Amino acid sequence: MSNLAVIVLAAGEGTRMKSATPKVLHRISGLELLGHVLSTASSISAHKVVAVLRHERERLENYVSAFYPNVQTAIQDEIPGTGRAVEAALELLEGFSGDVAVLSGDVPLLDVESIATLVEIHREQGNQATLVSTVLDNPHGYGRIVRDRGELLGIVEQKDATPEQHQIAEVNAGVYVFDAELLRQSLQQVGTNNSQGEKYLTDVVGLLIQGGHKVSAHQITDPWLVAGINDRVQLSEVEAELNSRIIRAWQMAGVTIKEPASTWIDVTVSLAKDVTLLPGTRLHGFTAVGEGSVIGPDTSLTDVEVGENVRINRADATSAKIHDGANVGPFAFIRPGTELGADGKIGAFVETKNAQIGPGAKVPHLSYVGDASIGEGANIGAGTIFANYDGVNKHRTEIGKQARTGSGNVFVAPVKVGDGAYTAAGSTIRRDVESGALALNPSAQKNLAGWVIQNRPGSKSAQAATDTE
Ligand code: UD1
Ligand code: MG
Repeated sequence: MSNLAVIVLAAGEGTRMKSATPKVLHRISGLELLGHVLSTASSISAHKVVAVLRHERERLENYVSAFYPNVQTAIQDEIPGTGRAVEAALELLEGFSGDVAVLSGDVPLLDVESIATLVEIHREQGNQATLVSTVLDNPHGYGRIVRDRGELLGIVEQKDATPEQHQIAEVNAGVYVFDAELLRQSLQQVGTNNSQGEKYLTDVVGLLIQGGHKVSAHQITDPWLVAGINDRVQLSEVEAELNSRIIRAWQMAGVTIKEPASTWIDVTVSLAKDVTLLPGTRLHGFTAVGEGSVIGPDTSLTDVEVGENVRINRADATSAKIHDGANVGPFAFIRPGTELGADGKIGAFVETKNAQIGPGAKVPHLSYVGDASIGEGANIGAGTIFANYDGVNKHRTEIGKQARTGSGNVFVAPVKVGDGAYTAAGSTIRRDVESGALALNPSAQKNLAGWVIQNRPGSKSAQAATDTE
């Protein structure tokens, strides 16, 4: 958009969050509030985007420079208020004389189209300022739009409003477009004489109107687009709304979602068509799911790459890759660095970490697989432990392709089992097993005849043993 600069306000402390984390770094749908706003601001392709910071400045500067390197940062001084924040940003816009859009770091759902429409209206009507308003059932906390017989007069903040003004349902969204030069001049006239002792940006609106300038409020009908987040109740309400919008969009794109109310999908997730999500599925981060895969119920995936026609049932997985046709769960704990090959299986009550399991290989039951590679087509017996930790260091276990390891094995790493080798049930494998060998380490079993009858006289076991004799 030509001749447009964008200012994003993010210097406030967000005291109502009661949090050690600055308000705008709280997340909804996998992205920080500020991230939602800066992503939108960045896709307007404005002349410049300036974020205003102060509270937890360093943390926020690091965040902005890491994820939005095209965004510049301005620092607000000790004078509080949204008006003062805008002044700080205007210092970085010296010499710029177009339109300035002001967005709030705590209004995350505002979209590019709404901002484009606002700028369009502003320019078409030849306004010096245009703001966004909406009508709310519960306007408490917001600045109210004051009108006289429909004519815009100004904005009054919740804390400064009279009881009659508290009845006004039309609220200020905190999103504006101003003529840059007039904004600069007007802010110089704004004081801090109000209930909060702050320099309000909203006072500019009344000043411009009094000065005979053309100002209008663009009322939008979808109040969620301009919902501001000031406390944790609003945080969860806005997240629930965003989540239901994300779900609807995926449904329209060909994803079956059985129970939207219990399904959570981050904005960063991607899904192919004919994916099915069963109740209680939560997809986070850069998780991607391929065509025809069925996920859930009760499954959380974070940064997991899932191929096509995969089945994942009741699992918790992070930073893993599951290839086409593989099968996971029920009740699997998949930790970072796990890779399951095509048509492979990680079965019931299995935990894996930093484990590469080859195509068609199976770990079907009750096992821990840590720091291991398992070759193509190998089968790991039920109840196997890969003992990877000697108390100081971690070591790897390698199982060859088409190996068959017995139930109840312990692999004491570092150790290797060759291709096509077998291990017997109940073995503790401490030495490498060569390809094609059978490893077993039986200690001879001793049965002490009559032990129970002698040592547990009168017990139910002794009785049963006596009856059988
Ligand atoms: C503000 C508006 C209110 C509007 C509401 C919409 C003012 C005075 N009031 O109120 O009319 O209805 O937003 O959500 O503008 N910030 C700074 N520096 C400061 C103070 C705040 O950068 O000194 C930033 C905050 O980080 C936040 C944004 O400005 O991102 C809004 O501040 P907040 O304190 O939430 O204002 P509201 O009370 O919500
Ligand atoms: Mg706010």
